[in-house]
Amino acid sequence: MSQSDVPGAAAGTGTVRSHRLAVIGGDGIGPEVTQAALTVLDAAQARFGFTTERTDVSLGADSYLATGDLLTQETVDLLRGHDAILFGAIGSPKVTPGVLERGIILALRAELHQAINLRPVRLYPGVPTPIAGLTPERCDLVVVRENSEGSYVGGGSTVHRGTRAAVATQGSTNTWYAVHRAVDFAFRLAEQRRGRVTLCHKTNVLTEAGALWLSVVDEVAERFPSVAHDYVHVDAMCMHLPVAPERFDVVVTDNLFGDIITDLGAVLQGGLGVAASGNLNIEGSAPSMFEPVHGSAPDIQGQGLANPAGAALSLALCLASLGEGAAAAAVESATAGVLAELPALSGAAMGASTSELGDRIAAAVAQSGTEVQSSLMTQLAAVQAGLAD
Ligand SMILES: NC(=O)c1ccc[n+]([C@@H]2O[C@H](COP(=O)([O-])OP(=O)(O)OC[C@H]3O[C@@H](n4cnc5c(N)ncnc54)[C@H](O)[C@@H]3O)[C@@H](O)[C@H]2O)c1
Repeated sequence: MSQSDVPGAAAGTGTVRSHRLAVIGGDGIGPEVTQAALTVLDAAQARFGFTTERTDVSLGADSYLATGDLLTQETVDLLRGHDAILFGAIGSPKVTPGVLERGIILALRAELHQAINLRPVRLYPGVPTPIAGLTPERCDLVVVRENSEGSYVGGGSTVHRGTRAAVATQGSTNTWYAVHRAVDFAFRLAEQRRGRVTLCHKTNVLTEAGALWLSVVDEVAERFPSVAHDYVHVDAMCMHLPVAPERFDVVVTDNLFGDIITDLGAVLQGGLGVAASGNLNIEGSAPSMFEPVHGSAPDIQGQGLANPAGAALSLALCLASLGEGAAAAAVESATAGVLAELPALSGAAMGASTSELGDRIAAAVAQSGTEVQSSLMTQLAAVQAGLAD
């Protein structure tokens, strides 16, 4: 781990806003897209007059293979001393699937009480989408994914492993407290948007968990008379999302369903490389963490083929949560503008490398451009202000 001050930073002077940022590049393309996002951050700082004190935190396959450690208490304590975390991606073919993902990503979200995983699904003007006929006006929704429970936390066991007598069980944990926290956040966000919350679940089969989610939605809805609400099964959601995304504003769902439907959501936006997310600590007790939705993509690692837009838009969410609303809006509109110029959204067909795209987004941030209308960045700031009251 190394700690470095950004050149020109004036942290702690009281005259310049300064934020302590932990940076976890991680594995595969994670460090590549994160570096591009940091170039964008440099441009945002220069234009909007704030600084960051950045700490590189080494987590992922290499550090695990070298030390045997996944997430130590020392690292958690170090991260707690920051205002926010920028995260790339974790996962490697060198390590058994699940070890790093559970031992680092899920552990981080749990240790830092990041209760909400916020995942915008927005098609920006001019950006190519594989969904025929889809227009930006029809595709602007946000998925609020419960981030601390569900089947990602429920225990499991296997007896007679590796034999034909094997029995594997995997549970799902759903507490009123965590479900209420996610649903309340969704209604608050919908109040800032078009005023509709959709619960996505599988209540016809997962009857116990489903009943809890339904009852919490009914309970919370009473406090938000201006917000309409409805319900869609997760399988039906997979049909509605590509053909009629306009029927959704804020979708609230459990950990597993949220993970799955937002990969589909990413496709609507132009691909996995474009999708952004924030793991929000809404109590203010620890830093929130911002990461592109995609994984470490070992198939394109080290070739400059990764689209850094998801990382840049995650940076925009990070800036919004840090109170740098103008910078967040500029990063969002710059990223949307650069995406609209690209012939394709991934690989060599993009016509520019990961770092070149970072430079182009940074250059666009340096100039004032057209702001994205109805930006989630502004809405997020308003919800956070309401939660702090
Ligand atoms: N939060 C995380 O860190 C996270 C999330 C998902 C998967 N993972 C891990 O990442 C590893 C790889 O998983 P996977 O292959 O299923 O998913 P992935 O998201 O890494 O890649 C899926 C496909 O999308 C492409 N892709 C991903 N990001 C892209 C980008 N920015 N630009 C262009 N193309 C991009 C990849 O080349 C690949 O073909 C696994 O170890 C997995 O567990 C980590």
